Amino acid sequence: MEPVTQKETNSNHLITSERLKEFKPEHKAEYVNRMFAQIAPTYDIVNRLMTFGLDQGWRKVVVREAAPPVGGKALDVATGTGDIALALAPEVGPTGEVIASDFCLEMMLPGPAKAVKAGVGSWVRWVAADALRLPFPDNSFDCVTTGFAMRNVVNIEQAFRDMLRVVKPGGRVVCLEVARPKLALVRWGHQLYFNKIVPLLGRLISRHKEAYTYLPASAEKFPPPEELKSIMERAGLVQVRFKRYGLGAVAIHVGLKPNS
Ligand SMILES: C[S@@+](CC[C@H](N)C(=O)[O-])C[C@H]1O[C@@H](n2cnc3c(N)ncnc32)[C@H](O)[C@@H]1O
Repeated sequence: MEPVTQKETNSNHLITSERLKEFKPEHKAEYVNRMFAQIAPTYDIVNRLMTFGLDQGWRKVVVREAAPPVGGKALDVATGTGDIALALAPEVGPTGEVIASDFCLEMMLPGPAKAVKAGVGSWVRWVAADALRLPFPDNSFDCVTTGFAMRNVVNIEQAFRDMLRVVKPGGRVVCLEVARPKLALVRWGHQLYFNKIVPLLGRLISRHKEAYTYLPASAEKFPPPEELKSIMERAGLVQVRFKRYGLGAVAIHVGLKPNS
């Protein structure tokens, strides 16, 4: 797949951390792709541990908000190991279809076996795709979801524009991402945990030097929920709303594709 080199229209790539030795803003997409390929085998276990097992509950909220109809077609963008796709699958059922897409093949490798184990293997399809150039026709999905991915794309607005393009009129686009707690004391504890404990835990388990340092560094640069809402609106989504979860450590945004 050719590297993403499109013109920047935001600052989502401008991550700075002295501890990120290999990160170059102009090569963010390649860096992200390589990093996820390397941490793929331990991705799920680190996720469960660092969120105290809350992450799967947040993904269930994403699916509830996306509200895919039985027999419908759902798309999970930047699906990684496929947890949101697997949560969408029972909702659409065997007469429906879930497309799980990601630009990092190694991240998707565990997905099919996980889907078979969950009994949904025959109606989840795995597709290599860049979130900024989705290879799907306009108006082809009942809903589109994405989790913990918008931090990683070079251009958030463009990603939402493409999700909007492929969802049907009246369909929902739902995004789960990290946020910063609002309450000062909680924010202080969260910062400490996220900046010190998570990189240590991630490095111990994944054996990757930078990935879990990149995580808080990219989260720091990521727009706060109010601003993300505006970005989604600029992309063309309407009735955009969001709610914080996990003491404000994550936010789930929901937007609608207008009918005309
Ligand atoms: C933190 S993981 C999240 C995976 C999954 N959505 C979840 O809920 O755990 C971020 C994923 O985004 C993918 N990703 C990042 N940038 C992407 C892009 N431009 N196009 C497609 N996938 C991308 C990465 O390969 C990785 O699998």
